Amino acid sequence: MRATFFETMPRVIGHRGASGLAPENTIASFKKASEVGTQSIEIDIMITSDDQCVICHDTNVNRCTDGTGPVLLKTLEEIKSLDAGKWFADEFAGQQIPTLQETTDLLTKLDISLNLEIKPTDGWEVPTAKIVGQELKANLPSDLPVLLSSFNIEALVTTGEIVPHLPRGYLSDAIPYEWERRLAEARVDSLHCDANFVTEDAIKAVQDAGYHFLAFTVNDPEHAQQLLDWNIDAIITDYPDRMLPLL
Ligand code: G3P
Ligand code: MG
Repeated sequence: MRATFFETMPRVIGHRGASGLAPENTIASFKKASEVGTQSIEIDIMITSDDQCVICHDTNVNRCTDGTGPVLLKTLEEIKSLDAGKWFADEFAGQQIPTLQETTDLLTKLDISLNLEIKPTDGWEVPTAKIVGQELKANLPSDLPVLLSSFNIEALVTTGEIVPHLPRGYLSDAIPYEWERRLAEARVDSLHCDANFVTEDAIKAVQDAGYHFLAFTVNDPEHAQQLLDWNIDAIITDYPDRMLPLL
């Protein structure tokens, strides 16, 4: 049986793979994370017009590919025709936007656990969560630990109904107003906040209430050290190579 994500969670998680070192959310980024010793990565998932799950942060492909337009209005074939590496550096030309399946197969081989952030286009929270949940239920490799997360409570609750065995985390920039009520409503196991809002007291209060506490996106080693000293469960970083030596 698969270990749960939190049983194996390291204290440093690569953001969009190792997105400071390679083009975010690509196979090259996941391999780079592995090369520098990362044991877990966070990536973003959304759906295409033909209901396929692809790994991409923005709702459109403009910033991270040589194409334009919303992901939700493109077929998987159209998404696959785009170059997702050259914008970062010429050496990464030819990288594609990966599918969920390509990603989970690779991470299983690399022995890297997965924090999958559901990133729905506004208005498509429930269908996105349903398609991602169904894909995970049908095809998730049995030994890959996965943590689902989202800024959107509807998406979290919907995936929780389809894959209830997978842990879930609620994303928020600040510590949410009335966070106890909010986390109960989202039915989650963890809270992930923007590191700039995180205090030692907040970490302790949230952990004492039974939740794991993660912070994103921490790229300054001094700030990372402070959060680790405050007993944060994990930090999410674009530069796992800078943060792993702190452990
Ligand atoms: O999951 C943590 C972090 O990735 C959330 O923000 O915008 O980088 O996806 P964003
Ligand atoms: Mg993310």
